[in-house]
Amino acid sequence: MSSNKKVIVLNVNNQEYEVLVKPQETLLEVLRETVGLTGTKSGCNEGSCGACTVLVENKPTLACSTLAIAAEGKEIMTIEGLAGEDGKLHPVQQSFVENGAIQCGFCTPGMVLSAKSLLDRNSKPNEEEIKEALGGNLCRCTGYAKIIKAVQIAAIVK
Ligand code: FES
Ligand code: FES
Repeated sequence: MSSNKKVIVLNVNNQEYEVLVKPQETLLEVLRETVGLTGTKSGCNEGSCGACTVLVENKPTLACSTLAIAAEGKEIMTIEGLAGEDGKLHPVQQSFVENGAIQCGFCTPGMVLSAKSLLDRNSKPNEEEIKEALGGNLCRCTGYAKIIKAVQIAAIVK
């Protein structure tokens, strides 16, 4: 074992994972490659597309730009942790499905988590607030209108 590696405990989706990480390893790498949660996507890998968004303490966070060691001791949520224990989709997920807000789906985990965080702090956001909250999440397929509508509808049914 290389001496600069360190064992840390990550709390992901309310489960503890003891992982061996290098100091420079990102949360994205560790989530996907070590923990095995591949719902979090790797897009640009440089902080500009939002595909890797996870929630850290319920705050949208770019996992590609966060060191895994910096996330120790914090509550991390990935898209795998969002549905209920019975498998029931979160209202934001349900609304994305029902309102055609998913095409290729690559941006969807990050979009959904950013929207979930927004609705937790602002249960009735207006269109501008939704656009601002999702501003860091790029989508190359949908043109955004259906995503915004899906968040608006999720806010109503939630
Ligand atoms: S993969 Fe992290 S912002 Fe693009
Ligand atoms: S649905 Fe394809 S990138 Fe958004």
